[in-house]
Amino acid sequence: MSPQKIIIDTDPGQDDAVAILLALASPEELEVLAITTVAGNVPLDLTSKNARIICELAGRTDIPVHAGCDAPIARKLITAEHVHGKTGLDGPTLPDPVMPLSDGHSVDVLIDTLRAHDAGTVTLCTLGPLTNVAVALDRAPDIAGRIKQIVMMGGAYFEVGNITPTAEFNIYVDPEAAKIVFASGVPIVVLPLDVTHKALVTAERNDAFRALGTPAGIAVAEMTDFFERFDKEKYGSNGAPLHDPCVIAWLLEPDLFSGREINVEIETGSELTLGMTVADWWRVTDRKANALFIKDVDADGFFTLLTERLSRY
Ligand code: RIB
Ligand code: CA
Repeated sequence: MSPQKIIIDTDPGQDDAVAILLALASPEELEVLAITTVAGNVPLDLTSKNARIICELAGRTDIPVHAGCDAPIARKLITAEHVHGKTGLDGPTLPDPVMPLSDGHSVDVLIDTLRAHDAGTVTLCTLGPLTNVAVALDRAPDIAGRIKQIVMMGGAYFEVGNITPTAEFNIYVDPEAAKIVFASGVPIVVLPLDVTHKALVTAERNDAFRALGTPAGIAVAEMTDFFERFDKEKYGSNGAPLHDPCVIAWLLEPDLFSGREINVEIETGSELTLGMTVADWWRVTDRKANALFIKDVDADGFFTLLTERLSRY
């Protein structure tokens, strides 16, 4: 079977970095057409720099990295240095990138790439705020019918919020963008905190990354050593939740995950619950299902997959 064509829209971020490494280590299954960056965990200049740092760590300077929107559609940017550090990739010491940014704004690249490939053949993997995708859908409504699916890390229901009591960061940063995406009619797979908080990098799992002994394995272990502080302190959890790699792992081995086709709406009116993903998990409304909402993962299977793929570097 030929590899699935994907575009990774991202705001690296340590967990984004691991997701990118997982994707680039899986060329039989995934063809990464482009990486499009967006402001999120840290400002755009840093997410765009970090994406290239990771491509170079993966030995994949052939992957075009494009910079995108530097702020949400209708709000001031909120970043997450408190989680990811000042650089967005705190933890390992990695060299500044040599590879340049590729020409073209992420929004134009999304539109042009989707128009250049057969309809229904390109998957968007979104790992950050949905600003780029929403602006592309707004500027070129025809692409909605061309996107195979959007597989996103975002939202929360049973797990509630990580940036406010009710909202997950990616959705909260740009709720207007999320509203556009969830109303687009594009097939959506959501990997919310409900599942990513079950993909915890325990000490044993992180030791397995470090034991790979390669620059990639050691860098992932050192990113995790930094990244886990926030969640361990806040949730008392047994390690860092690997949010964004769940998106790529779902594409590689969907049977590791389970969820339900339900309706998900985005709160954009109330300041109190702004950015909440109102997931009708119990189907108590007659609102049409618009997303596959993932709730569970075989965590051991996930880490076996991830560690094996990282061992390929
Ligand atoms: O809430 C977790 C999400 O926000 C992850 O994608 C993380 O990288 C940040 O973007
Ligand atoms: Ca992210």
